Amino acid sequence: MRNLDVFIEIHGKEYYVGGIHGNNVMDASFKYDHEYLNKGHAISVMLPLRKEMFSPSETSCFFEGLLPEGFSRKSVAAWLHADENDYLTILAGLGKECLGAIRIEEAGRNEVDDPQYELLTAKQVKELAAEGATKSTELLVKSHLSLTGASGKVGLYYNEGRWFQPIGTAPSTHIVKQSHVRLKHIVENEQLSLRTAAHLGIPTIDSFIVNHGTYQDSEILLASKRYDRNIENSVKSIDGMPCPLRLHQEDFAQALGIPGQRKYESVGDGYLEKIFNLIRKNSNNPLRDQILLLDILIYDVLIGNTDNHIKNLSLLYSSDLSGIALAPAYDLVSTMLYKESTAEMSIVIADEILWDRINKDTFIAASPEMGISSKVIEREYKRLVEKFPVALEESMKELRLEGFLNIDEIGQNMMRLYESVVLRKRG
Ligand SMILES: Nc1ncnc2c1ncn2[C@@H]1O[C@H](COP(=O)(O)OP(=O)(O)O)[C@@H](O)[C@H]1O
Ligand SMILES: [Mg+2]
Repeated sequence: MRNLDVFIEIHGKEYYVGGIHGNNVMDASFKYDHEYLNKGHAISVMLPLRKEMFSPSETSCFFEGLLPEGFSRKSVAAWLHADENDYLTILAGLGKECLGAIRIEEAGRNEVDDPQYELLTAKQVKELAAEGATKSTELLVKSHLSLTGASGKVGLYYNEGRWFQPIGTAPSTHIVKQSHVRLKHIVENEQLSLRTAAHLGIPTIDSFIVNHGTYQDSEILLASKRYDRNIENSVKSIDGMPCPLRLHQEDFAQALGIPGQRKYESVGDGYLEKIFNLIRKNSNNPLRDQILLLDILIYDVLIGNTDNHIKNLSLLYSSDLSGIALAPAYDLVSTMLYKESTAEMSIVIADEILWDRINKDTFIAASPEMGISSKVIEREYKRLVEKFPVALEESMKELRLEGFLNIDEIGQNMMRLYESVVLRKRG
């Protein structure tokens, strides 16, 4: 029998939300605690407050959705001597710090985990940059931290230019991603894509490149400030440093009840309509967030980001969980710069999945699915297309000044992708 306790942090205080019970992953079910039902808010759009238990598939959609994917998950499972499919054991091992404000623990575990921040030396940070996903997994297991996504990454605490490893239940402030052995200059690619989006007025994660040497892939990391942490209003300290508050978030796959394995859309799944409905029904500011979502989708096409699946979009909850907004854009990468990349977008636009067949007309044809008028779509498309070259040039200039020498080549190639989209006749 497996019994896991689920907690959530609200304004720095932890509440017991409920439990997951079952013999194994096939029948494990989540149920809200009766006290939480009286005073709390739902922890997922797909898990509305109710006293009945949720089905095993509803349960796994949300909770399995908290785990790393792909190679990272395989390595973590091996470290924990767990079966890769046994999400309960992996969560019990890693759930001390997840994305958002949830914490998971084996029920009845009475050990106290002393939260600490352990200073990382410059050499350790450099090693993190140099090593592949294995090292990152070691740190991840050590900190019992569960971050979704497939790339090698860790959650670290950053304070006045120094990096710390969070221990026990200590929250991280930044997500730090490694380079990729096969995808050259991906850190610079992502930073350039993020900065350019920000210059276009798209709310984007606040990121920077950590360089520990000569700007080579093996010496750089991409750090981004966690939007689901709030250090400015910290109410307590750990080891004399401010401890951030946790804010809750869930990705679109969790919020739509779609399992992670189906994060890439197949034609006919209707994800476009689903994601706009999700925002319209749940956001506190649906008008603003629908336009932002549209802007992100157009931007993905302009830079050739075909990895724009529904786990790369998230909902961010207000500090008391009562309000929801579209989270800032993250994981923006010009994937089409790599010959390994698929040309299939991860969200289908008006029945078109192929990046090299999508243009302004495709977006306009998707007006009924998005529930946005063709006039507004045309206005946003035109605005982003017109401002793109200046925004890209501006971010290239900034990164060039910071010393990133591959930026010109990446930026020029990105510009070529953009030109091919803009000049494209509909196929
Ligand atoms: N700055 C951030 N703040 C909070 N959550 C983040 C941040 N960056 C990424 N995430 C979360 O972490 C997950 C993995 O990050 P992502 O950049 O998508 O990595 P990967 O390249 O492995 O997919 C995302 O789905 C998102 O929910
Ligand atoms: Mg991702």
